[in-house]
Amino acid sequence: MKKKHFSVLVILLLLTGCSKQLDDVNWKFWEYFTNDTAEEVVEETPTEEEPVEEEQPEESPQTEAPPETNENQYVLEEPFFTVLNEEKVIENTENLLVLVNKNQSLPADYVPKDLTIPDVPFSFEGDYEKKYLREAAARALEELFAAAEAENVEIFAVSGYRSYETQYGIYNTYLKKWGEEKTNAVSAIPGHSEHQTGLAMDISSRSAALDLTEEFGNTPEGKWVKEHASEHGFIIRYPEDGEVITGYQYEPWHLRYVGKEVAAYIDEHDLTLEEFFDRAIKQ
Ligand code: DAL
Ligand code: ZN
Repeated sequence: MKKKHFSVLVILLLLTGCSKQLDDVNWKFWEYFTNDTAEEVVEETPTEEEPVEEEQPEESPQTEAPPETNENQYVLEEPFFTVLNEEKVIENTENLLVLVNKNQSLPADYVPKDLTIPDVPFSFEGDYEKKYLREAAARALEELFAAAEAENVEIFAVSGYRSYETQYGIYNTYLKKWGEEKTNAVSAIPGHSEHQTGLAMDISSRSAALDLTEEFGNTPEGKWVKEHASEHGFIIRYPEDGEVITGYQYEPWHLRYVGKEVAAYIDEHDLTLEEFFDRAIKQ
């Protein structure tokens, strides 16, 4: 009996051990497959509704590099560049460096908002629109005239602001008298005159009979103006030999306000306003 019991016990122990080992194998086998399956489920494909955002690398703060320039370039702030629409009509009309010429015009109804009469001697009496200039140009003209007076140079203001309508009358009078070619060499088509900006003033002297003629450039007053205009922010807008660029004959009497810095640069480099803008690069 004892032997029988022992044998049964041994058999039972062996059976339990095998079953435990089988259980271990089964467990590991199950674990292996269930883990794989879980990984597959986690790998979701992104949907349109919930885009998976890729982590962006943090941007390092960048300081804007100044534009590279050489001595033939002039760095100019963006608002001073003339903005045109598709018809080449100027959009930023209040820009003090506005470029008006044969290629680009002011809107017909443009009238500067800050027109004022400069306190300088005029060649005529009365309150006419041609006495007016924009504020900045008027103050600069007073400075120029004061500097001239201090050196006993007597100059007179002859013609400043002109409306589109006035320029229309002037241009058409010349057109009837001289025909298209000659008129276009000396007078601007309405909308294309710098006088409409309120930034230009024609000047003369008694020695030039207060007329607007090339002769003014040869008078002591005309020579003084050519030498000192830029110190007060003006340029001779239509210089001698500049017709091929400006489209107009020499006008030693036509001063254009551009501010002291730009006037000094234009004077130093002997440029027209068109050539200046060819060199200007945006800041
Ligand atoms: N004489 C200049 C070009 C003008 O008519 O505006
Ligand atoms: Zn003029």
